[in-house]
Amino acid sequence: MKDQYIISLDQGTTSSRALLINSKGKIVGIEQEEFEQIFPEPGWVEHDPTEILRTQLEVLDRLLQKNKVTPSEIKAIGITNQRETTVVWDRHSGKPVYNAIVWQDTRTSAICEDLKNRGLSEHIRNRTGLVIDSYFSATKIKWILDHVESAREKAEKGDLLFGTVDSWLIWNMTKGKIHATDYSNASRTMLFDIVKLRWDDRIAEELRIPVKMLPEVRPSIADFGSFDIQGEKIPVWGVAGDQQAALFGQGCFKKGTAKNTYGTGCFMLMNTGEDPQFSDHGLLTTIAWGINGKVYYALEGSVFIAGAAIQWLRDGLQIIESVEESEELAKKVTGENPVYVVPAFAGLGAPYWDMYARGAIFGLTRDTGKNHIARATLESLAYQTKDIIRAMQNDSGTKLMNLRVDGGACANNFLMQFQADILNTEVLRPENIESTAMGAAFMAGIGVGMWTQESVSSNKKMERIFTPVLRKAKRKELYKGWKKAVKRTKNWYE
Ligand code: G3P
Repeated sequence: MKDQYIISLDQGTTSSRALLINSKGKIVGIEQEEFEQIFPEPGWVEHDPTEILRTQLEVLDRLLQKNKVTPSEIKAIGITNQRETTVVWDRHSGKPVYNAIVWQDTRTSAICEDLKNRGLSEHIRNRTGLVIDSYFSATKIKWILDHVESAREKAEKGDLLFGTVDSWLIWNMTKGKIHATDYSNASRTMLFDIVKLRWDDRIAEELRIPVKMLPEVRPSIADFGSFDIQGEKIPVWGVAGDQQAALFGQGCFKKGTAKNTYGTGCFMLMNTGEDPQFSDHGLLTTIAWGINGKVYYALEGSVFIAGAAIQWLRDGLQIIESVEESEELAKKVTGENPVYVVPAFAGLGAPYWDMYARGAIFGLTRDTGKNHIARATLESLAYQTKDIIRAMQNDSGTKLMNLRVDGGACANNFLMQFQADILNTEVLRPENIESTAMGAAFMAGIGVGMWTQESVSSNKKMERIFTPVLRKAKRKELYKGWKKAVKRTKNWYE
């Protein structure tokens, strides 16, 4: 008998991916394509939305062809995506009016400053759970409306639509029929009231963003229309921002469970159940997902540059040929590494929230070489994670028992061991580290009745557990050095 499949589309910051998952929840095919990162000015990061769409549909097509799957064997599609990245397009022509402004882009720092000066910090925090920062979509939408000729006028007339990348894909895949997003993505726009579950008129007004250009917001497991593959209509039933999807994919359904994803950035999320918990230590309150008429919340610590720092070693500094090589180089440093890299290339996220910080390397001496820099870059991922975990422990008053990891860079054994050492906590690496894609697949599969939440939460085998071995005094000394380095990068650019 033929099997039935779920397709997971994982539209990330640097690549579009499509995964084929069989009825047992096993990944049987993966296709991936990188796309161009556009840096028009320092601090600006853009993507071409048509390239996002093209690469996403191409990998989907390749996945079906290579695995010889016919459309009738596909039960549903799940979509997960880089969050906050902002697309504004014309509803008649379907053409974007500007490139997608990526979450890492800091061009709207001044708009954020202005919002703070106008005393909106508290309102925004209470409604959206977020701190005012250029990271989120709201000020990026305003920038497009302010800078693209006649954009605001058209938006006011109802001719322009805004969406995060999920909405952009859904709108195109449903041939313009559905303009929607899910709670988790909406909660990253800095325009969505996460308690009342509706767009916040006051924030929209302050930024002069017409509410009519915003998508309809649906639960994460819901009907998002269908995608036509060779005449067969495949339902889209699961949609979530990639970090929330990873939390779901790691089976963190219970309050207090947490995961850390080492992707382009590093995102640590803790499920806080049905009540939003507001942070006193610079963490974000966000919607984890909406399921079965209920909304679940998470506390999040977002680090902007993690895997992207390793890519910088490869593409910027060109001291490694592949990201995997960073581990070899790091291991060549015998003894201590006196070098610290603070990869604040896009400012600093949680818990510092400094849009004006910029990256720096400290501790250089005559014998510093590329091995030291590679190792310090890997170590910076672990230090940033420690910063977040300390904030989370202070907010929740509980010590994290262990850390579940996923994302590309968690394959790096040097990094994982250092992470365990610097946290003094076990680091658990599951067999299947594709948590993000699996989260969206699980949501879609649950939506169409292929699986239940209980059935997807089993099957969580660990591939390796990293146990801390570093002495306390050394751990403290190393972390102190990191804090000193971070302090010196702050407010660099203001
Ligand atoms: O908030 C940004 C995040 O969603 C990007 O994730 O996996 O593309 O680095 P990723």
